Amino acid sequence: MTTVQAFSSLPLLLVLLLQLITTTSAQAPDIINILEKPGQFTVLIRLLRSTGVANQLNGEFHKSNTGFTLFAPPDKAFSDLRSGTINSLSDLQKVQLIQYHILATFVTVSNFQTLSNPVPTQAGDTSAGEFPLNVTSSGKEVEISTGVVNATVGSTVYSDDQLAIYQVDKVLLPLDIFRGYKPPVPVIASPPLPAKVDKSGAANLITHGMLVLYLGISVTIAAAFAL
Ligand SMILES: *[C@@H]1O[C@H](CO)[C@@H](O)[C@H](O)[C@H]1NC(C)=O
Ligand SMILES: *[C@@H]1O[C@H](CO)[C@@H](O)[C@H](O)[C@H]1NC(C)=O
Repeated sequence: MTTVQAFSSLPLLLVLLLQLITTTSAQAPDIINILEKPGQFTVLIRLLRSTGVANQLNGEFHKSNTGFTLFAPPDKAFSDLRSGTINSLSDLQKVQLIQYHILATFVTVSNFQTLSNPVPTQAGDTSAGEFPLNVTSSGKEVEISTGVVNATVGSTVYSDDQLAIYQVDKVLLPLDIFRGYKPPVPVIASPPLPAKVDKSGAANLITHGMLVLYLGISVTIAAAFAL
């Protein structure tokens, strides 16, 4: 190839590159693909699919100028719920629960403090007792309060300029559906250690610890099956 030929093909190359860039950026992120990678959002993925919210969301990326934010509870958060919690919901309630985890705005980590409470979610009505969601941030900590649970916003699972996904340590339970919800008794909580432990006391503690561990395991197994 002569120098002249190389230069004349340069514009063509640029056009091709530009086309590649525009098609890539116009392509909406696929929420399920993104969530499948970390491997710890299987329950959330199942719900996003079965409720049709994933498809809805993927379809709306094209139309939205403001983007979306998804709060993603990992499987651990679902298994921490009282057993049967999700199964006992109606189809509509499952849709609302998932929509409650989605904001119709793209929120960066530093933008959380600019939100005013209650923050509207895809579930709609933010009035008292319906689907209000409060976000409070102090320093680096961002907390979410639903009126039923308080959750902490954790690591960023994904972020581009139209979709942000943040891990949350709890399933966000909206008042409208979960008023009066009682979390299961925390069996894993360790008892306060006595200042002095004699021999028999230590043995007691060990037995107690094993029992707590055993209970913890059975609850986890029960929760996994009851979900
Ligand atoms: C949420 O914030 C609103 C407005 O500040 C307040 O009236 C409400 O009590 C808060 N709810 C919860 C559950 O924190
Ligand atoms: C959530 O946090 C608020 C304020 O710190 C507290 O009053 C409330 O009892 C907490 N709710 C739960 C369910 O832990």
